[in-house]
Amino acid sequence: MEKMKAIVCTKYGTPEVLRLKEVEKPSPKNNEVCIKIHATAVTASDTFIRGFKIPLRFRIPMRIMMGLTKPRKPIIGLVLAGEIESTGKDIKRFRTGDQVYGLTGFGLGAYAEYKCMKETDSNYGCLSLKPANLSYEEATVAAYGGLLAFQSMEMGNIQPGQNVLIYGASGTTGTIAIQYARYLGAKVTGACSTSNLELVKSLGADTVIDYTRVHTTEPGVQYDFILDAVGKSKTSKLKDACKKALAPGGKYISIDDAALLLDSKRLARIKELAEAGYLKPFIDRSYQMDEIAEAHRYVETGHKKGGVVIKVN
Ligand SMILES: NC(=O)c1ccc[n+]([C@@H]2O[C@H](COP(=O)([O-])OP(=O)(O)OC[C@H]3O[C@@H](n4cnc5c(N)ncnc54)[C@H](OP(=O)(O)O)[C@@H]3O)[C@@H](O)[C@H]2O)c1
Repeated sequence: MEKMKAIVCTKYGTPEVLRLKEVEKPSPKNNEVCIKIHATAVTASDTFIRGFKIPLRFRIPMRIMMGLTKPRKPIIGLVLAGEIESTGKDIKRFRTGDQVYGLTGFGLGAYAEYKCMKETDSNYGCLSLKPANLSYEEATVAAYGGLLAFQSMEMGNIQPGQNVLIYGASGTTGTIAIQYARYLGAKVTGACSTSNLELVKSLGADTVIDYTRVHTTEPGVQYDFILDAVGKSKTSKLKDACKKALAPGGKYISIDDAALLLDSKRLARIKELAEAGYLKPFIDRSYQMDEIAEAHRYVETGHKKGGVVIKVN
């Protein structure tokens, strides 16, 4: 039996419950590809799963679904970028050697050297060819932040010249959202804290607002589209003020309003824009597999800039 390295979540708890182990290497079914993973990411979602930080009202159903004392799928991880190592006989979209990126959804399993998954979209993942000009590490940021940002912003039908505000512009989703709004021709405002103002400007924001110091939006300025890119649990006086600065007919969307859609067509669109030079993922920190606990501790602070990645192979 072939073996591989994987990070196993031994029980719900602090980052120390994550252990690097040797486990059985999976082999693809007829309708699956086997991906040799080069990079994965530590997302806010991974820390929720590991720590079982689930709102009270969902705890019982989620424990039944995810596992009572530890995740039923012990290898967690939602995001991957790697190379197709082998394919089942029914695979049509991919060939051995293709460089791919995507999300694993309920299938988890991205914290490993290999992952088998279907080539078709479902709650168990979505996969596309990786942007050729991005590293595997950058591709993980593009996949997670890109899917979240594009999904929300497509609902806004943003037109050139419109005023767009990205609240929480420095996170994984926010850093991609700023660049996408810029690509759409919007006048872009990013809200972030003091230490991230320069980063957000460098990504294309015309105006930046420091949510730690400024508590109101500029008098007279109204926004056609506002994206809350950090979610409902993170707030400030400025965020409350933003909601009141919506133009008539404008749209306010929180990243938490809808479930994340695992959509390979959207991944292909992100690839196109990255290859055309409109999207450049920002990597905050990069860790090795055996530093996973440290990576989780960092992401849990809630202040990562762009993405935090794990180099796998
Ligand atoms: N809909 C879904 O299915 C789905 C799936 C996954 C995730 N999500 C949501 O997406 C959220 C964002 O995930 P992410 O990984 O992109 O974010 P993230 O990278 O974890 O966000 C970190 C960023 O948030 C900023 N931040 C922290 N507190 C803030 C505040 N009070 N106001 C403004 N910015 C603040 C930090 O900047 P500073 O250091 O400058 O404060 C940091 O750059 C998650 O928290 C979750 O709510 C939704």
